[in-house]
Amino acid sequence: MKKSKTILVTGGAGFIGSNFVYYLLKTHPEEKIVCVDCLTYAGNLSTLKEALQNKNFVFYKTNICNRKGIYEIFEAEKPDIVVNFAAESHVDRSIETPEIFLQTNVLGTQVMMDACRTYGVERFHQVSTDEVYGDLPLDRPDLFFTEETPIRASSPYSASKASADLLAQAYYRTYNLPVTVSRCSNNYGPYHFPEKLIPLTIANCLNDRPLPVYGEGKNVRDWLYVEDHCRAIDLIIRKGRVGEVYNVGGHNEMRNIDIVKLICDYLGKPYSLIRHVADRKGHDMRYAIDPAKIHNELGWLPETKFADGIRKTIEWYLTNREWWETIISGEYRDYYEKMYKNR
Ligand code: NAD
Ligand code: TYD
Repeated sequence: MKKSKTILVTGGAGFIGSNFVYYLLKTHPEEKIVCVDCLTYAGNLSTLKEALQNKNFVFYKTNICNRKGIYEIFEAEKPDIVVNFAAESHVDRSIETPEIFLQTNVLGTQVMMDACRTYGVERFHQVSTDEVYGDLPLDRPDLFFTEETPIRASSPYSASKASADLLAQAYYRTYNLPVTVSRCSNNYGPYHFPEKLIPLTIANCLNDRPLPVYGEGKNVRDWLYVEDHCRAIDLIIRKGRVGEVYNVGGHNEMRNIDIVKLICDYLGKPYSLIRHVADRKGHDMRYAIDPAKIHNELGWLPETKFADGIRKTIEWYLTNREWWETIISGEYRDYYEKMYKNR
C-alpha cells in the first residue's frame, strides 16, 4: 500500500497557514501535517487548538531562518511536500521595519529550499502574492495581472516576496528543485490578524471605535475567501506542473471604502465612525488577477461568493470574540497607537 504523504506547512499558526492546516486535516485525513512556525506577533497557537488534538498533526516552534533547526525537522519528519506560508505579511510594518521582511521572506525561504534539496522532496510550494506585480491603474479596468505580467514590487513587503518568488524559480532552473509558485490576491476569512483591513474594521466596529481608511479609500483589492485559496494550493501541489507559476484570484474587486461601509451596514454601525487618515506611502492603487491559467489547467474556480464569504467572516468574528480580543489587548495595542494615533 502507498504510504500516506507528510506535508510540512510553515507559518501554520498564521491566517492562511492555519486555514490550510484545517483544510488538509478535513480533506486528506490520512496525511500527516507537520507545522513549523516561530510564533511571531502574527502567529497564535490557540488558532491550532483543535489541530493539536489530531494524532496526524505535529507542531514545531522553529524559525525558518534557523537552518540547523529546520534540517533537524526534515531529518525527523522526512516531508514529501513543503508549503511555505511563513512570512512577515503586513505592508505597513514593512514600511516601518523592512529588515525582518528580508530575513524571513527571502533568507528563510532559501533555508527551506536548501533543506528540500538536501533531504529531497516531491514538491516545494512557495506561497507568493499578486503584490509582486505592483499595481494597475484605476482607469484601466480592462487590465489584469497574468503570470506574464512583469514583476514590479512597490513595498518592502512585496519586494521581499518577489525576491523569494524569483529565488524559488531559480532553484527550479538551477538545481531542478520541484518548485511551484502561487500568486494570490487578498484573502479574507477566519483567523485573519486584526491589523489587516477587514478584521480591523470588524473589530473596531464591534468596539465602536473609529474606522481608519487610508486616503480616499478608492484603492481596489481583489478579495478571495481563504478556503478557496487553500483549495487552489492543494490542487497546485498535487496536480500543478513543476516550475510553473499560478495566479489565484476570483474577479472580486472592491474599493476599500465600499468594504468598510458594507461591514458597517452588516453590523448596524454608522458611517460617522469612518476616518479618512493619511495615505500609505507608495500605496498600490488596484490589484486584479486573471485566473485563467489555474482554471484551464487545474479546473479551479472560487466557490465562495463575496456576499457569503463576508457574512461568514463577520459571523466568525462575532462568535470568536475572545480570539481577537486577546490579540488586540496585548502588544498589538502599542502597534495600533504608533500607526494610527497621529495619522
Ligand atoms: P500571517 O502574518 O497571518 O501569518 C504568518 C505566519 O508566519 C505567522 O504564524 C508567523 O508566526 C509565521 N512566521 C513569520 N515569520 C516566521 C519565521 N521566521 N519562521 C517561522 N514562522 C514565521 O500571514 P498570512 O496572511 O497568513 O500570509 C501567509 C502567506 O501568504 C504569506 O507568505 C503571505 O505573503 C502570503 N499571502 C497572503 C495574502 C493575504 O491576503 N493575507 C495574499 C497572498 C499571499
Ligand atoms: P491590507 O489589509 O493591509 O492588505 P494589503 O495592503 O496587503 O492589500 O490593506 C488592504 C487595503 O486597505 C489597502 O489598500 C490599505 C487599506 N487599509 C486602510 O485603508 N486602512 C487600514 O487601517 C488598513 C490596515 C488598510
